Amino acid sequence: MDIKEEIQRLKKEKNALILAHNYQIPEIQDLADFVGDSLELSRKSAGQDVDIIVFCGVVFMAETAKILSPACKVLIPSIEAGCFLADTISGEDVRKLREKYPEAVFVAYVNTSADVKAEVDICCTSANAVKVVESIPRERPIVFLPDRNLGKYVIEKTGRDNIILWEKGYCYVHELISPEMVREAKEKYPGALVIAHPECRPEVLAMADAVASTSGMIRFAEQSSAKRFIICTEKEMVYRLRKDIPSKEFFPVSEKALCRMMKKITIEGLYDSLKQEQYEIDLDADIIDRARRSIERMLEVV
Ligand code: 13P
Ligand code: SF4
Repeated sequence: MDIKEEIQRLKKEKNALILAHNYQIPEIQDLADFVGDSLELSRKSAGQDVDIIVFCGVVFMAETAKILSPACKVLIPSIEAGCFLADTISGEDVRKLREKYPEAVFVAYVNTSADVKAEVDICCTSANAVKVVESIPRERPIVFLPDRNLGKYVIEKTGRDNIILWEKGYCYVHELISPEMVREAKEKYPGALVIAHPECRPEVLAMADAVASTSGMIRFAEQSSAKRFIICTEKEMVYRLRKDIPSKEFFPVSEKALCRMMKKITIEGLYDSLKQEQYEIDLDADIIDRARRSIERMLEVV
């Protein structure tokens, strides 16, 4: 049996759509119907006319697809594919923060559980965090959660001094990228521009020529006159960039920048997922309704 052909056959038979995040392994990216960043994947999963969505990414992304397409059966090939950053905050934590800051507008990065999305006013992704915050009247205080690095980047870009951050929130993959690594990569690849994800530390962002979401990196590299780029994010992003823009060169800042959770998704797991229709994302109708409001508000702003 050719497992890739079987996946294509099952996909047709079951009227399924395969969505994959840019950090997925190359084989999964090649098999998917659509590969993108969190914002693109949210848009793509909204109102799909299919019976099944198989989400090759992490659980919060599959939950977002379920929230936006509740009539679809949404599957994730590994239920263990969590997100370290999303796990730093719970719905209960947000309720406590609401008591502490009753005047504030609550903005949640999409890297959060459905429970957290249900408790906040509006969501954002790395592609639109600045725009979402700018859509909120300047005099209103904001609680921005959970990623402290993205939050600091938003503070710098908007010049607002009334944003409260969730200091416990960071992504270990991006936190390990150091200024030293960037310096070494610049020496190794002279003339290369540095593109960094806003989950990186402020010291790293300060060294970057561009700060962008994963798909924003593709747009920047396409439009730039430069020919080589150092990529400060999860290492698989380089596969997507090399595939989309073969005329330019891309180098991961470090092979160590690897999201173990994204790598829980394998070709065999994807096949089993389609065949056995596992693991299904199941959310309470009330959580879906409340979380959808936060995501839709974001989609209206951008
Ligand atoms: P993007 O939305 O930029 O793809 O980022 C998602 C993510 O998990 C980054 O670590
Ligand atoms: Fe979560 Fe970080 Fe993995 Fe992105 S790279 S999914 S933020 S753990």
